Amino acid sequence: MIVIKNKSAIDKMRAAGHNLAIIMQDVKAIVKEGVTTLEIDSFIEDKIRKFEMIPECKGYAGYKYATCISLNDTVIHGVPSNKIVLKSGDFVKIDVVASYKGYCADLTRFFFIGTVTPEIKHIAQTAQFALDSAIKLAVEGTHLSDISSCIQEIVEKEGFGVVRKFAGHGIGRNLHEDPEIPNFGKPGLGPVLRSGMTLAIEPMITQRSFDIKVMDDGWTTKTVDGGIAAHVEDTILVTTGSPEILTRLS
Ligand code: MF3
Ligand code: CO
Repeated sequence: MIVIKNKSAIDKMRAAGHNLAIIMQDVKAIVKEGVTTLEIDSFIEDKIRKFEMIPECKGYAGYKYATCISLNDTVIHGVPSNKIVLKSGDFVKIDVVASYKGYCADLTRFFFIGTVTPEIKHIAQTAQFALDSAIKLAVEGTHLSDISSCIQEIVEKEGFGVVRKFAGHGIGRNLHEDPEIPNFGKPGLGPVLRSGMTLAIEPMITQRSFDIKVMDDGWTTKTVDGGIAAHVEDTILVTTGSPEILTRLS
């Protein structure tokens, strides 16, 4: 069942999203060569708590951190570590979920460390364009799979792959709610979007094969062929007019 949020729920999600967007602006100052992903995680967790929010990843299915920080061929769920030190050329994706007064927002941003390859810039831009284009479709009356198909079309046109095993999702009181939002599919199918639905849209895309594997830590998810991967995510509110992006600063 897709929950339609009332004004009070939306206001809390708005606050959660706004604060997370501020935190992602602030973190730019420390996402540099030489810093460890564990230091970034601590920085973000600290800021989340200062906003009186709860880091929802921590404790989720036994996960121990506030963020997932995924480098290069890691697609998602990179586990922060004091052994992972950022270096020039790294492509870093930081995924954070936090709640304010019981309501969640979920976002992922990417960062380039020093000089990165043109291929990294291309895949990052493609993921961002796919997300931005999909968000524009998230208005009352759209079929859910129009979003999926829009992402797949844009990504594959650039010669990249879309991950099949993970998807975007509804969000609200819970981090993961209905509907599931695949990043591939035929248009015109699935539920029709209504004003008051809140969705986390998150293209996860790969340089070559979309095949992925979960590593021995049970979380870190990499491409099987070692190709680089991009991921970007926003939480949005469906309205009768333009979608409201809850996790961006206007
Ligand atoms: N942000 C991720 C998502 O969109 C969740 C991370 S998994 C967790 O589903 F365990 F870290 F929470
Ligand atoms: Co998500």
